[in-house]
Amino acid sequence: MSKKPLILGIETSCDETAASIITENEQGNPIILSNIVSSQTEVHKKFGGVVPELAARSHIEKIDSIVQKAIDESGKKIEEIDAVASTAGPGLVVCLSVGLSFGKAFSSLINKPFIAVNHLEGHALSPKLNSKLNYPYLVLLISGGHSQFLNVQALGKYKRLGTTIDDALGEAFDKTAKLLGIEFPGGPMIEILAKKGNPNKYNLPKPILNKGGCNLSFAGLKTAILKITKNIKTDQEKFDLAASFQKTIEEILYKKTRIAFTEFEKQNNLKNKIFVIAGGVASNKSIRSMLINLCKQENYESIFPPIQLCSDNAAMIAMVGLEKFKLKQFDKLDYPAKPRWPLDENAVFLKGAGVQL
Ligand code: KG4
Ligand code: ZN
Repeated sequence: MSKKPLILGIETSCDETAASIITENEQGNPIILSNIVSSQTEVHKKFGGVVPELAARSHIEKIDSIVQKAIDESGKKIEEIDAVASTAGPGLVVCLSVGLSFGKAFSSLINKPFIAVNHLEGHALSPKLNSKLNYPYLVLLISGGHSQFLNVQALGKYKRLGTTIDDALGEAFDKTAKLLGIEFPGGPMIEILAKKGNPNKYNLPKPILNKGGCNLSFAGLKTAILKITKNIKTDQEKFDLAASFQKTIEEILYKKTRIAFTEFEKQNNLKNKIFVIAGGVASNKSIRSMLINLCKQENYESIFPPIQLCSDNAAMIAMVGLEKFKLKQFDKLDYPAKPRWPLDENAVFLKGAGVQL
């Protein structure tokens, strides 16, 4: 039996300090041996959003112990690690630099290859951590930092079908929550309040609904909500606004997902139609059931990876590291942190979409 690669993954692109050890079985399916995530929610709560300098400081304080914990929990020894994979972008440069420098130093210390990983590539491949999945598949990534539709055709071959032209969806949830006086990150609380409200009470805008292909835009919603909150007096009105906001988001996602399906079908010769929904907002049950129903109507298989694998983690970074390791795609130790690093370099301007990105 040949030795299977053992990969250490490190992630510090935003407000999660994470490390993971993964390997694979005889059939080539990945096995997560450890997956440690330390979230900084408490650090940023009082500021209503992520403060880059504080996030970087917290990564510096935690990175050693998180990596140590990932190695301990894996039951493996440092000498057994075959490569180190760190997120190099996109993200906050001061945060990226911590995990990137740590990963480079670690790989140099153990004299094993270093692999720089695109965080979005991690998200795109994350469903492969726990489901047997053949390419191509369509991914909707909806998190605090990203909102995009990706046509995942193979390792290293991604077509971005659409992206947000302003706020990420999680950010829109958090900003709405803040206007309703809810602590950061308020997305999950919006879902709870929405259950008690009337989704038809407020008529909110749906920016670029009928243009821009499957690109998304949420900033206009925040402005509309700001106006309404100025006149809100009762709790019931708050619940109604949360419900109306969530319903508006569902209507936007319904329409844009249908457009993404059409684009995806045009670009691929499909035997099976697979739609993966990842990112923190994918845990919203109402959005989930709307997308599951849409998939049933359109003959798509819907896949929601467990939330610990679709919100920020290092197992997905190790997963990309594992795939690249097998192809001997290693990086030099002077690899830079890339705050902007689109997965699909050609997607800067979407032809025909009429939206400058
Ligand atoms: O992927 P994620 O865990 O982390 C990063 O983006 O780094 O996503 C977090 C985002 C936050 O904006 C949070 O408010 C949102 O996902 N979120 C939700 C729900 N749970 C998390 N938004 C709406 N409904 C939820 N149930
Ligand atoms: Zn992410």
